Amino acid sequence: MEETDRPPAESTWRQPPAGLTLPQNELHVWRARLDLAAGPLAALTRLLSPEEATRANRFYQQRDREQFAAAHGLLRLLVGRYTGLPPAQIGFAAASGGKPRLVPGQSGRPLHFNLAHTRDLALFAFAREAEVGVDVERRRDDLPWRKLAERFFAPAEYASLLALPEEEGSAAFFALWVGKEAYVKALGEGLRMPLRAAQLRWSAGQQAQARPEGAAGDWRVQLLAPGAGYSGAVAYTGELHLRLWDAGELPLALELN
Ligand SMILES: CC(C)(COP(=O)(O)OP(=O)(O)OC[C@H]1O[C@@H](n2cnc3c(N)ncnc32)[C@H](O)[C@@H]1OP(=O)(O)O)[C@@H](O)C(=O)NCCC(=O)NCCS
Repeated sequence: MEETDRPPAESTWRQPPAGLTLPQNELHVWRARLDLAAGPLAALTRLLSPEEATRANRFYQQRDREQFAAAHGLLRLLVGRYTGLPPAQIGFAAASGGKPRLVPGQSGRPLHFNLAHTRDLALFAFAREAEVGVDVERRRDDLPWRKLAERFFAPAEYASLLALPEEEGSAAFFALWVGKEAYVKALGEGLRMPLRAAQLRWSAGQQAQARPEGAAGDWRVQLLAPGAGYSGAVAYTGELHLRLWDAGELPLALELN
């Protein structure tokens, strides 16, 4: 199918059905709030590995400690849901560029995942065989976006942003930022790949979809609307049907009881 012919991507975050499965042709993105009540937070914190708990405790601010714990507890819960593994016992290991992956041999079917968190919100992406990367940023009015674009984006991208009025320019900056970060995270190269090297070409007629320039493979980047004041994006390989799930509070509470 031509990229311009693709149907608009799903844009509504739904409550997941009971017994949710992840078929090979689907990409699941979950959004979850991280400012949790004490009960769910304590239950999620109990799922962390000793190493994750140590990392959480390194944060100076209590809110940062709690939100790190919530994000990693939720990741364990969701990976457990897709693999059938007990969440507290799932083994993660970083690949060479730093991208976390499942330790091989734990689950029958492959599972690719990626996590992003910003203040109060996390996104989690899952696919069976495709590489995935996700990013979320809280949009801030005080961000010196022109300076950041000049420093981190390609000259042509910087120039195109400068041509826009303030509000539009800021929104376009965040869209590019999360799109590029999602792609860099999908590749798993971490800081080895500069953001300026990940140039995006937005698809005609599908403003929220892009393809990285010169990418090896069938890469796509989809912008997401995770909530007011946030920008998000997911990058993946191949033709996948995107489904958006809201972690909400009810399913979590049920699973944690
Ligand atoms: C490592 C990196 C991908 C993390 O991104 P971030 O925006 O700081 O944080 P996010 O919330 O998006 O993602 C963090 C999660 O990504 C995952 N992650 C870590 N390293 C990763 C890698 N190399 N590839 C993919 N995912 C990675 C982890 O789950 C991590 O969670 P944790 O820190 O709680 O363990 C990022 O710092 C990076 O390398 N960026 C390169 C691009 C650049 O130059 N950015 C400048 C900003 S304008």
